[in-house]
Amino acid sequence: MLIGIPREIREGEARVAATPETVKKYVAQGHRVIVQSGAGVRASLRDAAYEAVGARIGTASEAMGAGLVLKVRAPEPAELAMMTPGAVLVGMLNPFDMENEVRMVAAGIIAFALEAAPRTTRAQSMDVLSSQANIAGYKAVLVAAHHYQRFMPMLMTAAGTVKAARVLILGAGVAGLQAIATARRLGAVIEASDVRPAVKEQIESLGAKFLDVPFLTDEEREIAQGAGGYARPMPADWMRRQAELVHERAKQADIVITTALIPGRTAPVLLQEASVQQMKPGSVVVDLAAAQGGNCPLTVPDEVVERHGVILVGHTNLAAMVAADASALYARNVLDFLKLILDKEGKLVIDRQDDIVAACLMTGQEQVDLAS
Ligand code: NAI
Repeated sequence: MLIGIPREIREGEARVAATPETVKKYVAQGHRVIVQSGAGVRASLRDAAYEAVGARIGTASEAMGAGLVLKVRAPEPAELAMMTPGAVLVGMLNPFDMENEVRMVAAGIIAFALEAAPRTTRAQSMDVLSSQANIAGYKAVLVAAHHYQRFMPMLMTAAGTVKAARVLILGAGVAGLQAIATARRLGAVIEASDVRPAVKEQIESLGAKFLDVPFLTDEEREIAQGAGGYARPMPADWMRRQAELVHERAKQADIVITTALIPGRTAPVLLQEASVQQMKPGSVVVDLAAAQGGNCPLTVPDEVVERHGVILVGHTNLAAMVAADASALYARNVLDFLKLILDKEGKLVIDRQDDIVAACLMTGQEQVDLAS
C-alpha cells in the first residue's frame, strides 16, 4: 500500500498524522510512504528524519494521491480534489459536519473519522479525542498562566506574601482532569464541576474540590450518567442551579477553564455574562469549547479579548500549540487504528462487523460492500 502523509493546510494546524516513529513501522510492514515536504516541520520533525526511516519526500499531490492518506484534519476542497476515487482517508474528519461528508462522498473516497470510535477498552489506544484533549487541558492552564498577571503558587518572600491563584474548572472529562493536575502542579487552589457524578472521586484524588449540584429528580440523576462515556444535555432546572453555584464560585476565582462538551451539539453555556461581569479584574477565562459555540457567550473563537476587565481566551486548537507531542500521540492512535483495516500482507480489509471500524466508517460504505 502507498501511504501518503500531507502537510496540513488548515490555519493554525501544526500537527502531522505520522511521525518518523510510526513511518518506520509502516515501512517495516512493507508499505511505501510518501511524506509531503515540510509536513512535520511545525511539529519539530524534519524531512530528513522521515527519509532516514525509509519515507520518500514528495509534493502535496503525491501525498494526497496515495491509496491510503493519513491526515489530522478533514480535507479542504482543494485537498480532496487531489485524492483518487476509491482511496482511503483516515483522520479527525469531524463526523458531525454534513457539508464535509457530502464532499467526501462526491469524491468517492472511503473515509474513517477517528473521533467516532466508541469509548471502549479496546478502542482506548486509538482514542484521538482523549489523546488530544489531554494535551489541550494541559496547555489551557499554561495559556491561562501566561495571560494572568499574578503568580499561580502561594509565595512567601522578603517583599511580602503572594496568595495562590484560585482556579475553577468547569467540565472534568479528559481535558478538565488534566487541567486540574497541571494547575495543581503550579500550586493553584482548584475547584471543579461536572454533570457526571462519577468524576467526583477523580477530581478529589487530584487534590481539587468537587462543586456539587445535587440532583433533585430521578430524571436529572439518569441524564447525568451520560451515554457511551459522553454527557447529555441536562434539564433546564439543573442548569439553572449549576449556573447559580458557578456564578458564586466565579466571583472568587482568578482563572476559569471551561471544557464542557456534548458531542454533535452546541456546547452548554456554563459561565454567563453576568458572572463574568462580577469576576475580579485581570481574571482569565480559557474556553476550550470555543469551536463548539463556547461555554461562555463572550468567548470569541481564535481570539483573546477583554470584556468587563476579564481576559477571555478562545483558542480553538490548543493541542496544535503542543504540536510535537500532540503529533506523536495522534500518530500512534492512527497506527493502532490501521491495524484494524490492514491485514498482515498490508492489504486493505474492512470488516464492518468490527464495532470500531463500523463506527469510524464515515463515507464509502458502497465501495467497501462491493469489494467484500
Ligand atoms: P467531553 O470532551 O465530551 O466533555 C468534557 C466534560 O464536560 C465531560 O466530563 C462532560 O461530562 C462535561 N460536561 C458536559 N456538560 C456539562 C455541564 N452542563 N456541566 C458540567 N460539565 C459538563 O468528554 P471527554 O473528556 O472526552 O470524556 C468524558 C469521559 O468519558 C471521561 O472522563 C471518561 O470517564 C470517559 N472516557 C472513557 C474512555 C474509555 O473507556 N475508553 C475513553 C475516554 C473517555
